[in-house]
Amino acid sequence: MTAKILDGNALSAKLRESLRHRAAELAAQGHRPGLAVILVGENPASQVYVRNKIKACEAVGVHSERYEFPADTPPQKVLDRIAALNADPKIHGILVQLPLPAQFDEDEVLEAVSPEKDVDGFHAENVGLLAQGNPRFISCTPYGVMEMLGAEGISLRGKEAVVVGRSNIVGKPMTLLLIGASATVTVCHSQTKDLAFHTRRADILVAAVGKPKMITGDMVKPGAVVIDVGINRLPDGKLCGDVDFESAKEVASLITPVPGGVGPMTITMLLANTIESADRAAGK
Ligand code: GUN
Repeated sequence: MTAKILDGNALSAKLRESLRHRAAELAAQGHRPGLAVILVGENPASQVYVRNKIKACEAVGVHSERYEFPADTPPQKVLDRIAALNADPKIHGILVQLPLPAQFDEDEVLEAVSPEKDVDGFHAENVGLLAQGNPRFISCTPYGVMEMLGAEGISLRGKEAVVVGRSNIVGKPMTLLLIGASATVTVCHSQTKDLAFHTRRADILVAAVGKPKMITGDMVKPGAVVIDVGINRLPDGKLCGDVDFESAKEVASLITPVPGGVGPMTITMLLANTIESADRAAGK
């Protein structure tokens, strides 16, 4: 079997078209959605992500503001900027690009963002609401994965889902969303004893570890849906996921590529969250 490839660019383009209409409607009523992005330091991957987020805002008509700080910035300066953005009615979403330099307490910074503008869904209040099954903002990557599964009409009820990775950004919220959709979820991580034992049981396998090609075809159940959240750069400069695409696509029924799978969906859901936030601010 050769798997169907899930095209995140195509689905994103479709969703962004409808987001562009919603943004235009809000703008016409005097509530143009606005996103502020904060980048501290010169991490090259973060610079690319931030550039892509700003470009995506422009394409759908979301106002964007970009705040860049040198790596040695005292944390208070960034906290002051966040406080100003929290109070700014033009801004409906605030995103602090992670990772932050070592002198920052990441939790302190994320908690400083108003939970009403936390379009990344990283604030403890929003994580708590998601855990209770009553989300305000869902973090963008797992949200994008759920949209991709939904667009394919994949039912999760009673399915065996295995999430590889337990990060706050992907693994944990992904787990909560899959539980919410009535899947039976196993979470694997660096201390898991026999990873392949678990992954071979998965009807839905989500890889989010940040290790190039670590999930190989022999670790995939025949007919499984394989979602690759990893974005890794190989020594030759090419991007690859956490899944060995070539071997896994021969076993899976559906698989996401890297690039062009989950990545574009992450940014699309950031736009969706920002527009949703503007909708709420407009009292809709
Ligand atoms: N760094 C890696 N992924 C993300 C993300 O989704 N949001 C933010 N803010 N930083 C990240």
